[in-house]
Amino acid sequence: MLWITRLLVLLLWLVLTFGQLGVPAQPPIASTGPVRPHAHLSSRAGECRSRATVPGVELASDSCSFMGHARVPGQKLTIMVTSHKVADFDDLLQSYNVSHRILNHNFQALIDANYREVAPEGTPPDQFDWKRYFQLDSIYAWLEFLAQQRPEVVTLVDLGASTQGLPIRGVRIAFGGENLTSVFVESGIHAREWIAPATATYFIEQLLNSKDAAVQTLARSQNWVIFPTVNPDGYRYTFKGDRMWRKNRSLFGICRGVDLNRNFPFHWNATGASGDPCRYDYSGPSAGSEVETQRIVQFLENRIQSERIRTFISLHSYSQLIMFPYGHTPERVENYQDLKEIGQLAAQQIKKQSGRIYRSGSIYETIYPSSGGSKDWVHGHLKVPITFTYELRGPPDSEDLFILSAGEIESTASEAFAALQTIVEEAGKRGYYQ
Ligand SMILES: *[C@@H]1O[C@H](CO)[C@@H](O)[C@H](O)[C@H]1NC(C)=O
Ligand SMILES: *[C@@H]1O[C@H](CO)[C@@H](O)[C@H](O)[C@H]1NC(C)=O
Ligand SMILES: *[C@@H]1O[C@H](CO)[C@@H](O)[C@H](O)[C@H]1NC(C)=O
Ligand SMILES: *[C@@H]1O[C@H](CO)[C@@H](O)[C@H](O)[C@H]1NC(C)=O
Ligand SMILES: [Zn+2]
Repeated sequence: MLWITRLLVLLLWLVLTFGQLGVPAQPPIASTGPVRPHAHLSSRAGECRSRATVPGVELASDSCSFMGHARVPGQKLTIMVTSHKVADFDDLLQSYNVSHRILNHNFQALIDANYREVAPEGTPPDQFDWKRYFQLDSIYAWLEFLAQQRPEVVTLVDLGASTQGLPIRGVRIAFGGENLTSVFVESGIHAREWIAPATATYFIEQLLNSKDAAVQTLARSQNWVIFPTVNPDGYRYTFKGDRMWRKNRSLFGICRGVDLNRNFPFHWNATGASGDPCRYDYSGPSAGSEVETQRIVQFLENRIQSERIRTFISLHSYSQLIMFPYGHTPERVENYQDLKEIGQLAAQQIKKQSGRIYRSGSIYETIYPSSGGSKDWVHGHLKVPITFTYELRGPPDSEDLFILSAGEIESTASEAFAALQTIVEEAGKRGYYQ
């Protein structure tokens, strides 16, 4: 099988964290002015591909992969280095006194273990669960199964085809209440964040089958439109190709993929996005350029009134955050205070349930500035008042990055659902659904 071959080739990654950055005696990159530590690091991030810019060190595009951008001195940054470059890279860090810590000598082993936690292809939909990860086809088969089992409540919704022709499929759950408002859940926009689709399917399961009276009331208080995998091409690729893939699969020269969560047409490409197709947060050739982005935009624009969508939730990992707009500016949204309070209550609910610490705040305050995210567009352009993005487990300093063991799916999804319940109940109390 193709992916097994590829994974063997990738064997042995090193993950390094930069702590306090040393100030290099000489700028590592040809430069006329003084090079500040963060400039040094971010330049290197940008020039990972070019051997000419880092004299004596060959850092080819396939040798290192940055998780996040260097922005401020002293910041921590996680980097994956491919095995045949580890010695060189280590030497470079020594030369410039960059303090670092090795998180994992063999990240591939973690990825391999994670693949063993995937349900076999063709697992029948009545064996769907939250103890394993499921591939795209299994998730879609399960959604179809639900629609067949509960046709009076569950309807399949197709957003249309992805770039590679896969359906972008979700469900609408409606118990039949009149004039209800709707909650829209978008999940899986970043392919490698496997816990996000698993959590979205758990939401569906709870809304349909929970025995808890409060959950049943919640389920009937809204209509629900839930898309577990809005980036099906990318999600499928994380099983067949690269487990750490994030973007979509468009081809740009030798590099592929637009970060769909930087591609939405609202303050597009203003900050925290890259113009380089080889980078993980490439915003795309133009605002809303991507098929998947357009599908979501069209659906929401068409349905915002008829479905009375008042709540938008997007699911990501990792870092344990519950965030609200904006990401592109420190400017506060008009209902900042409500969102702040609701987010904090949701985080408290999680702490009560599982002991996990989630932080809440605006995207700009809690994680990093970014533009072109779906929630900024949904709040700023569509005016959906209750808009939250989750970063699910693991913790911000996770050494496993996006690899969450399947043993944590159920508890992660369950605490996320408790937070969702708090968000909807609190927003209801504050009059957002009248
Ligand atoms: C690195 O640190 C050592 C010991 O503190 C020092 O002698 C050396 O000059 C430093 N090198 C650079 C490039 O800053
Ligand atoms: C739903 O909305 C319609 C039209 O506005 C109204 O006539 C009807 O009474 C509403 N039903 C409920 C249960 O509020
Ligand atoms: C990704 O980006 C390309 C380039 O803009 C776009 O054409 C395509 O629809 C997107 N999706 C996939 C899966 O390639
Ligand atoms: C997006 O922003 C980046 C960084 O500022 C810039 O290099 C790039 O040209 C921009 N892309 C477009 C299409 O304007
Ligand atoms: Zn994400």
